[in-house]
Amino acid sequence: MKKIKILLPFLIAFSLVTVMVLSGCPAPPVEEVIEETTPTPEEEVATEEEVVTGSVGIVLPSKDEPRWIQDETRFNDALEAAGYDVEILFSEESPAKEKDNVEDLITKGIQVLIICPHDASAAAAAAEAARDADVKVVSYDRLIRDTDAVDYYVTFDSVSVGAAQAQYLVDNATGTGNPLYLYAGAVTDNNSFIFFQGAWNVLQPKIADGTFVIKNSSEAVALQDMQLDATADRDKMGDILGQITTNWEFDDAKTLAEAHLTVASATDKGDVFILAPNDGTGRAIADAFAADSDVTSYVVTGQDAEIASVQYIIDGKQSMTVLKDVRTLVADAIAAAIAYLEGSTPEATTTYNNGVIDVPCKPSIVITVDQDNVQETIIDSGYWPASEFTGLD
Ligand code: BGC
Repeated sequence: MKKIKILLPFLIAFSLVTVMVLSGCPAPPVEEVIEETTPTPEEEVATEEEVVTGSVGIVLPSKDEPRWIQDETRFNDALEAAGYDVEILFSEESPAKEKDNVEDLITKGIQVLIICPHDASAAAAAAEAARDADVKVVSYDRLIRDTDAVDYYVTFDSVSVGAAQAQYLVDNATGTGNPLYLYAGAVTDNNSFIFFQGAWNVLQPKIADGTFVIKNSSEAVALQDMQLDATADRDKMGDILGQITTNWEFDDAKTLAEAHLTVASATDKGDVFILAPNDGTGRAIADAFAADSDVTSYVVTGQDAEIASVQYIIDGKQSMTVLKDVRTLVADAIAAAIAYLEGSTPEATTTYNNGVIDVPCKPSIVITVDQDNVQETIIDSGYWPASEFTGLD
């Protein structure tokens, strides 16, 4: 941790130093720089400000999904607006590459690691390597599991994400016997369990009262009389997820949906309701259902407010998405990093259990988006520009 008092004009003159320390590049010795640029007496009386310096590294899971490209862009936007540059490493969906990235950053002298794990449990080794090097570990969006080497978790309220998806299905269903198709994220991602908990606990009473009938998971049918908790009932939930996982892969989602449609009879189709875990898989699943002539209509969920899915919503091909404002997540991650560099602790309002410890966090709220409020929530809020879309009123 380095906490250095310098003068504001001095900071501006040496923005390059800041650029390098936040980029994860080895920081030049700060003392050296200070010696080279002794402030003038005028500067001495100028605004005095405490400036935190230190080295922060960021590791994201994959460039193959728009979600993580969005996080990269939002990190760059936020850090550039603050006068910083940043190097963000991607793990290519490989725990080995992820660990290499972390070791690389440790070697470069980072003091805080912001990491979104590809595989929650496999990432424990990377987190422990960071902890051994006295690096603070901030788990970003996805929780690293099965280790005590996680200091803080920056996240959205993921139970609310699943609950919002399920509530949308409930709000759009009338009568009884509505066919329900369930899909989930990768079982290696802790979020998949939390999203499913949120969704299941809204859907389950509506399955019990006959509003919905599950069509594609015998494990879900076997558990349809009980509410489920992502921590206490992890194994049971894992049985369901194992049957309905998309692995967060569009192709897997499409193949799985097509397989379900192939075995389903025409009476299991008609007006269907589909819990899809995120936008990429939601579009793939929606396309598969749209192509089946026995499907009369479908309501399908998503999350992330990806540009392609917002267009799908405008076009009536996807029913809803859950907006998780990545700008907020990025701001929270940067605030956490700065808190650690200052020697303090980021604000926490609750904890998430990672199998070993309760990790402190401050989850951010999420917003349901559909055709009715897409203009207000996505365009008017400045989340995406109108120029990205066609067919907006
Ligand atoms: C994230 C989602 C994302 C999914 C697939 C989850 O952990 O929270 O926003 O769509 O991973 O990458």
